[in-house]
Amino acid sequence: MRAIEASSYKTYGWRDGDQSHGPSFQFEDPFGHVFELYWNTVKYKAPPEEKAALKNIHQRYHGRGCCPRRLDHLNLLSSNVTEFRDFMITCFGSRVTEQIQLDNGRLGGCWFTINNKSYDLACTEERGGGTGRFHHITYATDQREDILRAADIFLENGVHIETGPHKHAIQGTFFLYVWDPSGTRVELANSGARLIMKPDWETITWTENERKKGQAWGLKTIETFHTHGTPPIS
Ligand SMILES: [Fe+2]
Repeated sequence: MRAIEASSYKTYGWRDGDQSHGPSFQFEDPFGHVFELYWNTVKYKAPPEEKAALKNIHQRYHGRGCCPRRLDHLNLLSSNVTEFRDFMITCFGSRVTEQIQLDNGRLGGCWFTINNKSYDLACTEERGGGTGRFHHITYATDQREDILRAADIFLENGVHIETGPHKHAIQGTFFLYVWDPSGTRVELANSGARLIMKPDWETITWTENERKKGQAWGLKTIETFHTHGTPPIS
């Protein structure tokens, strides 16, 4: 928090907590995304009907719908990914595990971690003309097979499948992207056992030419992926 206060980024100071956590310290990146840090958290206690069979699981397993296991990461949009990268390093002490270097000298995207996951936040370049926008939220599934099943569930329920299932070249996650009814992009992903264990991890940089080859198995990145964000631009 001292590092944030000592920086030039906009801060809003302490806010009262909400239902899930105690007081939080709020601040903003140069693009209008508001972040908050908190310490005191309200731990989930499952009501009797939701209690898991084993004590080391917070809620019983239902295996319904896409049955994601947990939140995995967020992807935000910004008009200057290099500036966003500086913000993440200054305010979160974040490591950059992978990034895209465009031919024009700009960064096309950056993947950040503050733990041993290969990333928990990504930022890609805003090409839709918006500011402070959101690209997607991602839920992790236990297995790749869950994602194939989810694709059929989305299809049967009229949910817009934007792209996938396929495997990302960057970070290697198996993925599927859909839009919820409000237009918010939601990803289901399975990263297998990829973890960042090396303390001296060196950022992997992808060139524009490498990115043009598409995703891991050749699927071209769909155009809306570069332009669709939320909220929509009016
Ligand atoms: Fe993602």
